[in-house]
Amino acid sequence: EKGNHRHYMEKEIHEQPIVVAQTLGAYLDPLAETVALPRELPFDLADVKRVQIVACGTALLAGHVASYWIESLARVPVAIENASEYRYRDPVYEPGGLCLFISQSGETADTLAALRHAAAGGQMVAAVVNVDTSTMARETQLLLPTHAGPEVGVASTKAFTCQLSVLAAFAIALGKAKGRVDAAEEARLVHLLTEVPAAMNVALRCEEAIAAMAPTLAKARDILYIGRGPDYPMALEGALKLKEISYIHAEGYAAGELKHGPIALIDEHVPVIVIAPSGPRFEKTVSNMQEVMARGGRVVLISDAEGIASHGQGSMAAITLPTVDPFITPLISAIPVQLLAYHVALAKGTDVDQPRNLAKSVTVE
Ligand code: M6R
Repeated sequence: EKGNHRHYMEKEIHEQPIVVAQTLGAYLDPLAETVALPRELPFDLADVKRVQIVACGTALLAGHVASYWIESLARVPVAIENASEYRYRDPVYEPGGLCLFISQSGETADTLAALRHAAAGGQMVAAVVNVDTSTMARETQLLLPTHAGPEVGVASTKAFTCQLSVLAAFAIALGKAKGRVDAAEEARLVHLLTEVPAAMNVALRCEEAIAAMAPTLAKARDILYIGRGPDYPMALEGALKLKEISYIHAEGYAAGELKHGPIALIDEHVPVIVIAPSGPRFEKTVSNMQEVMARGGRVVLISDAEGIASHGQGSMAAITLPTVDPFITPLISAIPVQLLAYHVALAKGTDVDQPRNLAKSVTVE
């Protein structure tokens, strides 16, 4: 039921503070400030020597964000691959390899085939899945459920942030098992995660500003997104969401990669969405933003009050998010990225919940 929302997508965007809290509740003990994975583990996380993340679409981008968390917290190397390409690589399976699959539906054909391939290859297999009766949920060794509830809109929104929530908890658990995250650091990180739902509620207040600029963006033929570090996969997610439901051509780039080619596309007709929360990566991303402006490009800056106060001038619009610790920024910047795609699609009059050519669950390879 859509309730008083125009579309399932809009409803699902607004549900995120609640379903993320639900999901985190299954992985965190907020009083003890500890992480607890929900079930008995079929293998010992201390044995994990490397992690291979495999998924499709938005789930893959959740994995891309997680790769930063896992490497920095657990110091375990992470590789990421599209499920559709994975089996064509003749992957190297060694003892200590953990393959981590991510899927809202738990039925995506390519991801399922990759899961079976990894299990047959003797790897430890874990899956982050939203539908707990799905094939992947049944076949994985370790099930890490998301508690997003049914997601109806073809564009994945709440499943994505619930995947991020599970993956953040998993990264902390792995860091603990590897002796890299001590009790004080665990408490700090858990505390930060418990702040996410409230920060998401604040982030949702940017909807009006986004709706106001959507008609202008809807006139563009091409839109670029840039970000650095974990904001880079968020740029990819922004572009995927926008093209999926508004049919505007969009690409996400690592901010520093722009000058290696894509900057040639920039003129006053190609808006650039810059995802740059203030913090350690801010200055460098801002200098990439200035390169765009110097070439006549129109910029939308997504940042927090501090970032916008220092570098918001000259942008066509600035979207203000709450200031949060860099660990949790991807969970917060997901909101404007989703709202932007939604409102641009509304302005274009496309079928938001059932975009052309797409299916909710892709069960063919
Ligand atoms: O059910 P899954 O998470 O395995 O689906 C993966 C992709 O098909 C899915 O995320 C797709 O990219 C979404 N429509 C993006 O919004």
